[in-house]
This record gives sequence, C-alpha cells and structure tokens, in this order.
Amino acid sequence: MRVLLIGTGGREHALAASLAKDPAVTELIAAPGNPGIAQVARLAAVDPMDPAAVADLAVRESADLVIVGPEAPLVAGVADAVRERGIPVFGPGRAAARIEGSKTFAKDVMSSAGVPTAGAYTCETPEEAAAALDKTGSPYVVKDDGLAAGKGVVVTDDRAAALAHAAACGRVVIEEYLDGPEVSLFVVTDGTTAVPLQPAQDFKRLRDGDEGPNTGGMGAYSPLPWTSPDLVPVVLRDVVEPTLAEMRRRGTPFAGLLYVGLAITTDGPKVIEFNARFGDPETQVVLSLLETPLAGLLLAAATGTLAAHPPLAWSPGAAVTVVVAAAGYPGQVRSGDVITGAEAPGIFHAGTGVRDGRLVAAGGRVLACTGTGATLAEAREQAYAKVRNVHLDGAQFRTDIAAKVA
Ligand code: AMP
Ligand code: GLY
Repeated sequence: MRVLLIGTGGREHALAASLAKDPAVTELIAAPGNPGIAQVARLAAVDPMDPAAVADLAVRESADLVIVGPEAPLVAGVADAVRERGIPVFGPGRAAARIEGSKTFAKDVMSSAGVPTAGAYTCETPEEAAAALDKTGSPYVVKDDGLAAGKGVVVTDDRAAALAHAAACGRVVIEEYLDGPEVSLFVVTDGTTAVPLQPAQDFKRLRDGDEGPNTGGMGAYSPLPWTSPDLVPVVLRDVVEPTLAEMRRRGTPFAGLLYVGLAITTDGPKVIEFNARFGDPETQVVLSLLETPLAGLLLAAATGTLAAHPPLAWSPGAAVTVVVAAAGYPGQVRSGDVITGAEAPGIFHAGTGVRDGRLVAAGGRVLACTGTGATLAEAREQAYAKVRNVHLDGAQFRTDIAAKVA
C-alpha cells in the first residue's frame, strides 16, 4: 500500500512512525513533513491548504490511501478533493470537518443529538457577551468560534479579561464551566461503525500545576488508571453514536477521526469539544501503545469497511509524552535556535527545521519526548530522561506531566 500523509507536526511524526512499521505499507510519502518525519518517510513538497495541489500529488504518487493530519486542510476541503479523484482518504470532508471548524456548529449538532455538554451562547457583540457572562457566572469560558490551534479559549475568573477576549475574537461561544478532569477519546469511524482508541489525558496549560495560558497541549499520558471501566462504552452510547447518526441525518456523514474532548463531571462525562483529527500530543502516546497495524485500520475507515476490521490490540504498558516548546510559546515564538539531543526514538518532531545542516527550532511546540514502559512511572522516567538530553536555548516544558498518576 502506498500511503501519503499530509502535515508537519508531532502528531504526523507519530502517525508516520506507526505507518512505517506497518508491513502493509510499501511506500510512505509525507508532505510537507519535517526533519523528524524525513527519518521514516520520503518527503514531497505541497501546500497542505491547497486541495487541488494535494489531490494532484496523490494521483502523481499513485497513493492507495491519503491521511490528512491537521484540521486546517480538512476544513479547507482537502479530503473532498482527494476523494473526488477516486483515492481513499482518511479524514472528513469540509462539511463534516465543521464539527471542529465552528464551535457554534458543533454545539448545534450536540444539541440535536442530545449529547451532554456545557450550556452555551453564541455572541457577536459586547452587549451579548456581557449578558452571557451574567448567565453562566464565573469561572468564565470564552471561545473563539473559529479554528485557533487550541489557543482561542480563555477560562478566567476575571470578567474584564473575559469581555476583552470576546471583543478581540468577534464571534464567540460563551459557555458554562465544566468542572472535572479531562479525557481525550479518539474514535476511528467510517461514518457508521465507531472504533474507540485507548483514552489519554492532555495537559493544556503552559506551566506546572495547570497554571498559565492554554496551549495546544504540553504533554499527555495513557492509559488513565483513574477512569471507570464504563467510560468508553458510556461515551460511545451517549456521545459518539448519537453524533454520528446526527451527521448522517444531515447528509454529511463524519468519517475519519472524531476526537471527543471530555470533562468527567459529577454528572458524568460531558463534551468540551469535538475535533476532526487526531489530537496532538495525545497521538504520540496512544499510537505508541497501539499494536494493530495502523494503515489497515485507517484504510478500513476510509473505505467504509470498519465493521469487518479485527478488534484492536494494545500493548499492556503505558506511555507518557512531554512537549518541549520554544521560548515565547504560546505567544510570539523565537525560531532558529539550535537543537541537540533529539535523535532518540520516541522523540517526535513538531516545529523543527534544518539550517546550515543543523537542526533548529522552527515553531512553537518543537519536540514531543515520548517514553514507554510497563508502568506510567517507568514511561514517565523515560520521557523525562529524553527531555533532559535535549538542549534548546530558552526551551519550556512542564515538569509535572503524569506526576499525579505515576
Ligand atoms: P477547547 O479548544 O474547546 O478544547 O478548549 C481548550 C481548553 O479550555 C479545554 O481543554 C479545557 O481545558 C478548557 N475548557 C474549554 N471549555 C471548557 C468548559 N466549558 N469548562 C471548563 N474548561 C473548559
Ligand atoms: N491536544 C489537544 C488537541 O489536539 O486539540
């Protein structure tokens, strides 16, 4: 099978590493990729936001399967363009990717499907925002309606800061605060059959102790020893199946990866967000534990044959990943600093580049140092051993990823 993977991040490096291990994959091409992905795939140049260019590349490469990693190309219609050329693609079309591309759309789907989530108001003016903040009360949750790479959400007790974020974004969703630990559940689906992967937990805030601004994610671990064994079946029944049915009813079935971001509240699991693709950095831990060959699973989702796919096999162990971010992240980042010590297996590249033959930082989140082991404690120790070996001036990373469970 010839597989073309679209994207450049740590998630794509983890996907590429798993695909490269799948004996069914005869050739792996990544576009545009990054220096880490280049260790396991052949890179091709493409603008991932240009649907026609990606479809042309897939035809030129005689791809049997195209996997679209990030949300922005999905929302831009890249999967539709590839599918129109008759090539199986893992990732929803533009219409279904709105489940991530618009918070208002996602809330509308959840409400029609009866999915448990926070009550919410869409606001377009400062007056509407002020009225909504009065209704939800503090802590205030204000979300940019559109895509914001995980950085469009402000959770604060400060009413003035909540209003200022609403004014800066224009159209926002203001919602009730959901209290409880978060879980990321990935579901591979062909639009009808849903295959859940092992749940993971992400650390969204920049600093230790869940302080500082929201980021795309600073670390993750799996499995989650503190969740009830019912969690996945309950979320499939109450969230995933009704959502997939509602998307089919609307004539825009969702096929690809449905990322269910949950808060485990005292009233049970409630949806914080849907994403239309694998999470980053949760993918780095989840795929480190998946033993089932990945390309066959994603091809089954892309071709509507998931019901016939064998059950997934998992490593009995644990995985922890710690993100090393560049100085300034999640604000204005400093690029170009030299990175050393990033060669070990399990160090996934995100924002890296090559300058004068040396590996340099070229983005906000730079590396995801991933450890595996028989226990979370072992996996955590391995992950931090890799972090300690990396050198990057001004690097930021959390020291408490998985600390409470390991
Ligand atoms: P989102 O982009 O919607 O996932 O939001 C980013 C992060 O903000 C989430 O992972 C949560 O940590 C936090 N968050 C979002 N919505 C809520 C909510 N309703 N209650 C509490 N925290 C939230
Ligand atoms: N780690 C959160 C996300 O991928 O959206």
